[in-house]
Amino acid sequence: MDYYFNQTLLSIPPSASLAVSEKAKKLKAEGVDIITLATGEPDFDTPALARIAGIGGIASGHTHYNGALGLPALRERIARKLNEENGIQCAAENIIMAPGGKFAIYETIRALVTPAAGDEVMILNPAWVSYGPIVTASGAVPVNVALDFEHNYKITRDALEQHVSDKTRAIIVNYPNNPTGCILSQEEAEILADFALEHDVILIADEIYERIVYDGAKSVSLASIPRIADRVVTINGFSKSTAMTGWRLGYVCAPLPIIRIIALLSQHAISCLSQFSMEAALAALDCEQDIKAMTESYLHRRNFFVDGLNAIPGVTCHVPQGAFYAWAKVDLDGKDSFAIADYLLDEARVAVVPGDSYGLGGDCCIRMSFATAKSDLREALSRMDTAIRKMNGGK
Ligand SMILES: Cc1ncc(COP(=O)(O)O)c(C=O)c1O
Repeated sequence: MDYYFNQTLLSIPPSASLAVSEKAKKLKAEGVDIITLATGEPDFDTPALARIAGIGGIASGHTHYNGALGLPALRERIARKLNEENGIQCAAENIIMAPGGKFAIYETIRALVTPAAGDEVMILNPAWVSYGPIVTASGAVPVNVALDFEHNYKITRDALEQHVSDKTRAIIVNYPNNPTGCILSQEEAEILADFALEHDVILIADEIYERIVYDGAKSVSLASIPRIADRVVTINGFSKSTAMTGWRLGYVCAPLPIIRIIALLSQHAISCLSQFSMEAALAALDCEQDIKAMTESYLHRRNFFVDGLNAIPGVTCHVPQGAFYAWAKVDLDGKDSFAIADYLLDEARVAVVPGDSYGLGGDCCIRMSFATAKSDLREALSRMDTAIRKMNGGK
């Protein structure tokens, strides 16, 4: 059978981080002793209160369709959280639930662009591997804006101006950032605000790692800036902050006209989220102690791992201020990031994600998750140290 496929989807590459994880899994299954630092997932269980609430929902028979926007009580509670913790003035009507942050981003882009109109969406790079494919799948054109390692990926007006056109509809901004661990400063937020106003574009702020920040730092929520509040869409969810990746819980907070359009797509594409999942999410919003304990544990491992990386000759790693990734530049006999990742997998048996998978600005970089057992981090450091010294002539 000669199948006819959607030509746009055919142009999308598979996810690089999933590809590395799959390769590592296969080697593990063959008995090779691999340490995987490639997966972007908390290594904690979902907080007990949330799990119990989910079980309670199932036991009570909350296993039917419910509204496309999400449970009213959950949307109320999220709105309260965004007001109190993020300085975002919103009400329950500004919130729509989505099956994961990923789908929340997809429906937002779908709401803002028209396929075949040549609409463009700017993406600050390095960027999470799915933004480009989501923009493409939505029928728009992703435009990568390179930020650079040497300046720790600071946003500049210059970088933005170089990539804007009269087709630009939106910019995707992700802080705390996957993969770099950078957070958004007030100064950078103001640059984005001025730029968005001047060019009449929407800012899509993916704040999925917002609760995972270190050293008392706080990443600015763009929607908290009053002069741009009507042009910011905030994406958040429960996967990372409350270790609920498998529950598929994300949300969009946006001005009402945008929510209405997203709700149309939601009604026809997903109907609703499962009620018991949302009941678990409602409980998770009150699991403050669990969130604190997880973040403290990441902090401890961040310090240990980043110090260890910087002690390896040829490796430079800025200290991440948020999320749970170490993003390091590796000087390995001139190899590019794909060759570095391949070498580390073959020689050190450590799986990492090549920096070039995250678009521009990731040359010779690799991303490693420190949401990994400390014993594995220790062993991975030792193996990478030996392998990198070997390649670099024992330096
Ligand atoms: C930056 C970023 N945004 C969004 C997501 C999506 O998370 P989920 O769909 O699990 O809520 C991820 C997951 O890796 C991510 O890293």
